[in-house]
Amino acid sequence: MKDRYGRSIDYLRISLTDRCNLRCRYCMPDGADFLPHSEILRYEEILRLARAAIDLGIHNFKVTGGEPLVRRGAVEFVEQLKQLPGCGQVTLTTNGVLLEELALPLARAGVDGINVSIDALDPARYAAITGYDVLDKVLRGVQASLAAGIRTKLNCVLLASAEPEIVPLAELAGRWPVDVRFIELMPIGEGSAGGGLPPQRARALLLERWPNLHPVNERRGNGPAHYEASEGLKGRIGWIDAVSHRFCEQCNRLRLTSTGELKPCLCYDASVDLRALLRAGAPDDALRAAIAQAVEHKPAHHCFDQYEEITEHRRMAQIGG
Ligand code: 5AD
Ligand code: SF4
Repeated sequence: MKDRYGRSIDYLRISLTDRCNLRCRYCMPDGADFLPHSEILRYEEILRLARAAIDLGIHNFKVTGGEPLVRRGAVEFVEQLKQLPGCGQVTLTTNGVLLEELALPLARAGVDGINVSIDALDPARYAAITGYDVLDKVLRGVQASLAAGIRTKLNCVLLASAEPEIVPLAELAGRWPVDVRFIELMPIGEGSAGGGLPPQRARALLLERWPNLHPVNERRGNGPAHYEASEGLKGRIGWIDAVSHRFCEQCNRLRLTSTGELKPCLCYDASVDLRALLRAGAPDDALRAAIAQAVEHKPAHHCFDQYEEITEHRRMAQIGG
């Protein structure tokens, strides 16, 4: 459906859990007081909302977290979501820790693509960023995903402390048929403390290594990334620079938190409480009306460059990454 700025909203990010098996420095370095299960939407509840969303033309889904694969039944959920009549693409964002075991089941469940977060290729630096020495396991997960025939992308948050990692990470797009996407650190959660590497700096490093890196006008998923290509790279280099290049005019999404809040924008704390409606026994048309209301309330743009206007103060794992 269209929002009041004429944008077509067809994409819903669904957070399955606020929990995670890593402790990334910019996300939840000290863990968190995780929510009790009763506050988290049950799979049947999420599927009901997804059906209502599809009725409104919101038919592509990203399954996310926290870390979605730590929730029991996540693969079966993907399968059920994918089987809903009218469902479009179902993709997943993961830190990859459990992917080695779950890639094949996810492929069988019908997943259309997987994004794996990986911010460094030096094992010690990876462990310093994420709190766990599991880089090899994550890389085996990426290979398992490719071997299972899944369209696989790598997401790398740009961190000043990981500047030497930029070129090696991009080189993975030469070794494997993967897109490697660099994500500007957003002032969300611990990310508000800073520590990001400016995307222009990262791009300058890549240009030294691949002087012929050039923009390509391609859409490769539901997201706002813009892509570049170079000889010697099988995959593309992508940039998701939400702060320095606001791409809100093309925004196509809503976010559902694990507790059933439907958020029109990452930057503001405004949301529609779908869990309350579900648990009060609301009929389908009331659910559709509530989702339409969130679309109506989408702001024209985020405010990450005006710090004092940000009203969302939770971590990405609580909102849904
Ligand atoms: N800025 C940008 N990306 C972030 N992520 C988490 N916090 C931030 C932030 N402040 C990304 C990471 C993570 C996914 C859930 O969201 O890639 O793995
Ligand atoms: Fe987990 Fe992602 Fe947060 Fe890291 S950034 S702790 S992988 S949810």
